[in-house]
Amino acid sequence: MGAPKKLFIKTYGCQMNVYDSERMAEAMGGAGYVATDTADDADMILLNTCHIREKAAEKVYSELGRMKGLKQANPDLKIGVAGCVAQAEGEEILRRQPMVDLVVGPQSYHRLPEMEQQTRAGGRALDTDFPEEDKFEHLKGRGQAKRGPTAFLTVQEGCDKFCAFCVVPYTRGAEVSRPSERVLSEARALVERGVREVTLLGQNVNAYHGGDGGLAGLIRGLAKIDGLERIRYTTSHPNDMDDALIAAHGEEPKLMPYLHLPVQSGSDRVLKAMNRKHTAESYIRLIERIRAARPDILISGDFIVGFPGETEADFDDTMALVRAVEYGQCYSFKYSTRPGTPAAERAQIDAAQADDRLQRLQALLRDQQRAVQDRMVGREVNVLFEKTGREPGQMIGKSDHLHSVFVSADVAVGDLARVRITDSAPNSLAGALI
Ligand code: 5AD
Ligand code: SF4
Repeated sequence: MGAPKKLFIKTYGCQMNVYDSERMAEAMGGAGYVATDTADDADMILLNTCHIREKAAEKVYSELGRMKGLKQANPDLKIGVAGCVAQAEGEEILRRQPMVDLVVGPQSYHRLPEMEQQTRAGGRALDTDFPEEDKFEHLKGRGQAKRGPTAFLTVQEGCDKFCAFCVVPYTRGAEVSRPSERVLSEARALVERGVREVTLLGQNVNAYHGGDGGLAGLIRGLAKIDGLERIRYTTSHPNDMDDALIAAHGEEPKLMPYLHLPVQSGSDRVLKAMNRKHTAESYIRLIERIRAARPDILISGDFIVGFPGETEADFDDTMALVRAVEYGQCYSFKYSTRPGTPAAERAQIDAAQADDRLQRLQALLRDQQRAVQDRMVGREVNVLFEKTGREPGQMIGKSDHLHSVFVSADVAVGDLARVRITDSAPNSLAGALI
């Protein structure tokens, strides 16, 4: 057998793509590829793409444009597009970019090794099926190599909610949960490789129904694994936040006090137009119940401004909701028209007005995040160290509340230690070992 071939994967978008990229690298490992971290010396480049907002797809096309030179220098180089842009625009990509050799959607990447073979035989390969078989069952084991202390673990995929702005139900398909035994065995294998924290992933992870007791049942099962110290999950829909999951936040010490619970808007009119099926009031009541179970929980969210029909009064309602909740972390976006979604057909609002609203919202969210973070100063927190810092002796880890914490101490990557927070900077905390 010759020298291993080199695979470069560039990942866009959400954590689910990060997880998929790892699994694709492992699948190609079985086909004689090793991972490389530059495109320059690669035998195969895969772009694992995101389609959630307009610019994401454009970025992919411009990245492909930049790769022309690489392909000219090495005609054996294979270029593939994976992920949600692949799913949405499959044939269009092959038409628009003749140098793309293969296109593979998020539900069929277990077939990548065969597709690569096809391209080596001189063909082009396209697979954007939603196959009957479960890709996870067809992927090889996850390998034995030691790895970092944190890992993503996809437990649920797809979305049945059909928010009027969102492409996910079309690109990722219907909600599907992985059976809990398989998730548990993947988690055990990760722990054997050094993982101490898992983040369970799903487009609607709290709609998980792969075993008894839904997501709460899965979390309680995972919490029994020795050596697994921390459990997180993302992303959740307010309507799937059931009593058992709320109770788990109060009762399960390994479940971290952090919840990403997007609301998108604080206006009932806009929420209705978005097909969110909840109100601002019901969301605020829900947050209150979650905080009653776990008072120190940090709430994170997503917002869209400039949704078709959003008025200044609607935007005021969003600002009021943000003030009522107080977010510790937030992502906010200007509405982006996605062809094929219901909202794309509606009259769009003025772009400058949407920009202005986004700036005002982001200023408020920034202040809140900073205030929540500043309140950690003086407190004792647990930190799981993930990497070394730039200064000698400096280590960087995450607190239970997912704040980045810088500590100068003799600790190793993978250590979990008590730290007293001494300082708060714009995007991180500093502390000292206790
Ligand atoms: N425009 C802007 N933001 C969007 N999101 C999803 N679709 C769109 C869109 N068309 C945001 C939502 C979602 C997050 C992942 O991306 O806030 O929660
Ligand atoms: Fe998109 Fe709404 Fe489903 Fe989230 S819940 S993936 S925003 S359709």
